[in-house]
Amino acid sequence: MNVHPTRHSTRSHLFASLTAYLQDLQESGLDGIPVELTTPAMTDIAPQRSVAPKPATGAVMGDRQSTPEKHETLEQIKKDLGECQRCKPGATRKNLVFGAGNPKARLVFVGEGPGADEDAQGEPFVGEAGIMLNRIIVAMGLKREDVYICNVVKCQPPQNRSPESDEVSPCMPFLLRQLASIKPEVIVALGTSTAQTLLQTKAPISKLRGKFHDFHGIPLMPTYHPSDLLRTGGNSDSFWSVWDDMIQVLQLLKLPVPDKNRKK
Ligand code: URA
Repeated sequence: MNVHPTRHSTRSHLFASLTAYLQDLQESGLDGIPVELTTPAMTDIAPQRSVAPKPATGAVMGDRQSTPEKHETLEQIKKDLGECQRCKPGATRKNLVFGAGNPKARLVFVGEGPGADEDAQGEPFVGEAGIMLNRIIVAMGLKREDVYICNVVKCQPPQNRSPESDEVSPCMPFLLRQLASIKPEVIVALGTSTAQTLLQTKAPISKLRGKFHDFHGIPLMPTYHPSDLLRTGGNSDSFWSVWDDMIQVLQLLKLPVPDKNRKK
């Protein structure tokens, strides 16, 4: 599905989905969602925001101006998370990995969950997979500080396994609130588990990647996880598939697409 919503429809969709989701959670008795978010005041979280005119170079990401209206900040969301113990990995983590980057980023990368390096440092994608992700970001003509990087879950699952549904469920409202705060124009879902979780499908990443899907009104591009590229190498089919996916992301953002020579 090709999804190219306007920024306004993106906001409304995400906002409506988030409202409904939070209401469902509240009705099912989940705690930890601030009550004021499900009251009419919630409509203040994602109001129309003026967007700075794009610079001529198109190289600057996320330097959007915001109007001074009420807006849930990432700091407020982080504060609500607190010393989260909503699922088992809360007890074994060293650090909660909230997310990092530009709070007004036009592009958000979402990974699966923190690994050992991220758990140790409290930052997403700082280990080997992070070095590969940085290379992808730089190859796109961007800087890590331009984008926002986070994960489906905020604590390292035991034995570095993929997060389980009872770990994803309590974390998901916080991810949705982060996205409602950032209001990105595009999301990149990194890897099978991330894409399958966000899109609620069991389809393989090879079938999901290469096209935009709708995630609460935001175009979402699934692609291979940077750690897959560590295994396959810098000139593999997977590597060039990721690059093809990132070209589509850059085109959607109306940013220049750097030339890359595909070695034969
Ligand atoms: N892998 C992920 O999915 N996320 C990280 O933050 C690091 C590695």
